Amino acid sequence: MAIVSSGSPAPRGRPGREASPSDGPPRLVDPTPALEEVAPAREDGLRPRRLADYIGQSELKQVLAIAVEATRARQEALDHVLLYGPPGLGKTTMALVLAEELGVRCRITSAPALERPRDIVGLLVNLQPHELLFIDEIHRLNRVAEEILYPAMEDFRLDLTVGKGTTARTRSLELPPFTLVGATTRAGSLSSPLRDRFGLIQRLEFYGLDDLQAIVERAAGLLQLALEADAALEVARRCRGTPRIANRLLRRVRDVASVRGHGRIGAALVAEALSLHRVDDRGLDASDRRLLTLMLEGYGGGPVGLDTLAAGLGEDPATLEAVVEPYLLQLGFLQRTPRGRIVTPAGRSHLGWPAGAAA
Ligand code: ADE
Repeated sequence: MAIVSSGSPAPRGRPGREASPSDGPPRLVDPTPALEEVAPAREDGLRPRRLADYIGQSELKQVLAIAVEATRARQEALDHVLLYGPPGLGKTTMALVLAEELGVRCRITSAPALERPRDIVGLLVNLQPHELLFIDEIHRLNRVAEEILYPAMEDFRLDLTVGKGTTARTRSLELPPFTLVGATTRAGSLSSPLRDRFGLIQRLEFYGLDDLQAIVERAAGLLQLALEADAALEVARRCRGTPRIANRLLRRVRDVASVRGHGRIGAALVAEALSLHRVDDRGLDASDRRLLTLMLEGYGGGPVGLDTLAAGLGEDPATLEAVVEPYLLQLGFLQRTPRGRIVTPAGRSHLGWPAGAAA
């Protein structure tokens, strides 16, 4: 089905997107999409198109498969869907899969692209019956856009104010039944009136190693790479539970393999290629190691406050908190305590520091 992109989900390198360390040098393990990973025309076909090809997120798939089947049988629009969870786990992909399963078009945009009322109005009035409207970063919608969406979502109605001051009047316009698919990394930042208008609210989880290995093997097949199973597992180990990063790492491995003239790609080549990009065997990159090293060398492993660390690294605190810390917390290398951040024994040991040793 055709994909129509309006503004498209905010990729790295665009103003108004989430904090990202790409404000400094770009990170190979940044979970936010690079431009070529967003633009559907340039995206090199690694995204699964159907539910049957979508690996992992089994609970999400089960819920959506039932909703799709019931919707098709009733010949209605699918209930509005809110997908939330960390970046890179496949929220946009799932919206496109849903459109494919329903045999309708998906229009893609992101909240920062809906600055003026006419941006969202323009999208709504151009929808055809049962089409999907995907809004990425929906927690960033402004109040006016949000209020336009309420009657649109609830009654498929657009309430427009015509005129100004005492002559202002509201005109209602009927919209075709459609499905709003909202995506957010911060479900908690959504206003409750907006959240309450979604019939299906689903969380995407970090992927396990088996699923990631299968995703890498599938992508290698599509890229016509002879990737051995242990090589796929090696990419899976380094991709921070995130398919978008897995596919990006795989492309870098492909570069090294083609320059070296390797036909078959084994685990050793993956390790070599990713070490070249300073991504280590648990997926940590230079930014992660800089943070942990500063904490160990400068503050005896903590506790130390976020602002102090941000100043020491020359990073913005919000970037540090939103982009660098989550994976270190998930790995159990870092902990947040009321007195500040601390490096855990696992974090120390990963950096080769003896457990509990003072700086
Ligand atoms: N590529 C990226 N995410 C994927 C997924 N969940 N399943 C299959 N291929 C993918």
